[in-house]
Amino acid sequence: MDKGVLLGVNSDNFTEKTVADCTESDILATDVFNSNGYKLLCANTVITDYIKTHLGLNHIRTIPVYKTINSVTENSRFHGDIKKYYGDTVNSVKKIVTNLSAGHNLNYDAIVNLTDSVLKIGDIRHCAYIVKYINQIKSADQYTYTHSINVAFYAMLMAKWMGLREKEISLAVQSGLLHDLGKIKIPSSILKKKGPLTTEEYEVIKTHPMHSYKLLLDNADIDMAIKEAVLLHHERFDGLGYPLGTTSISFLACIIAIADVYDAMTSDRVYKKGVTPFKVFEYFQREGAGRFDWHLLNVFISHMSALLVGAFVKLTSGDTAKIVCILPDDPLTPILYLNSQFVKLPATYNSGKNKLDIECVLCK
Ligand SMILES: [Fe+2]
Repeated sequence: MDKGVLLGVNSDNFTEKTVADCTESDILATDVFNSNGYKLLCANTVITDYIKTHLGLNHIRTIPVYKTINSVTENSRFHGDIKKYYGDTVNSVKKIVTNLSAGHNLNYDAIVNLTDSVLKIGDIRHCAYIVKYINQIKSADQYTYTHSINVAFYAMLMAKWMGLREKEISLAVQSGLLHDLGKIKIPSSILKKKGPLTTEEYEVIKTHPMHSYKLLLDNADIDMAIKEAVLLHHERFDGLGYPLGTTSISFLACIIAIADVYDAMTSDRVYKKGVTPFKVFEYFQREGAGRFDWHLLNVFISHMSALLVGAFVKLTSGDTAKIVCILPDDPLTPILYLNSQFVKLPATYNSGKNKLDIECVLCK
């Protein structure tokens, strides 16, 4: 079997397993191709019964999967721990922001501790669960704090998927944690406004990356690559980003840009409901080519969609269905198990009266 591209995968972390013996706690460690070189599945896909059949039809008997925590009890205990760690990290961000708003200096040790926590909860074997968990907790009033953690988490995943080294993964996490710090300089009447912003208000919002940069600039502990990433995370390759309108964007800033947009669009805000991940993938495919790093975007869409396999979703009809497969060349059309049938659902249709659509991803 062709092992495919090893994106950020250390061979110590995975084991070859017979497809028949796989369960839904198994996550594919590499891309899988058929004998003609056609990519059948993307790395990080959660193995469902549907996928086992799909692999069998393509005469694939064994696959590389991440070494997992074996027992269901251990798995659920770990999921409980993750919820606690996530809650703790959100509280830590809250403390950092509160101290900074009160005029104290940025506590870099707290940022280092937070980075360690994100790296700890971000063990690749649990990402499928965390991605679903983050998708479910969309608390608008906690957005300021959860957003930093979520962006740090997604940035970490992207850095791993790109095969970056430990030091660079840590820089990606820290950039995610710090990217929006400058928002403490924006009046909350603008930040939390429920209606549309005026042109003048939007101009004020657009100053926040520069505020973030200035807050970090004099801190010698913070790597220059992080300072650049926070300054450039709203810049775009068509030159229509802000605050500089530059097309010279660092790789770290490109990672944060994608993580930031994904979390902002999927989260509930005081003025709007969050959309499903599939709507964001569709937006990225439609608008992303000239704006974001295209290669990075493709890596993000294929790996993030693969992690959603196995998730339960609520449909606009009120039914609950399970995503049993997402094919690498068709991330916007997941295959669902609904009412004892397999349904290929265009997940990004506008939900008209008779059109079925995914309303939200559930965390079960
Ligand atoms: Fe931002």
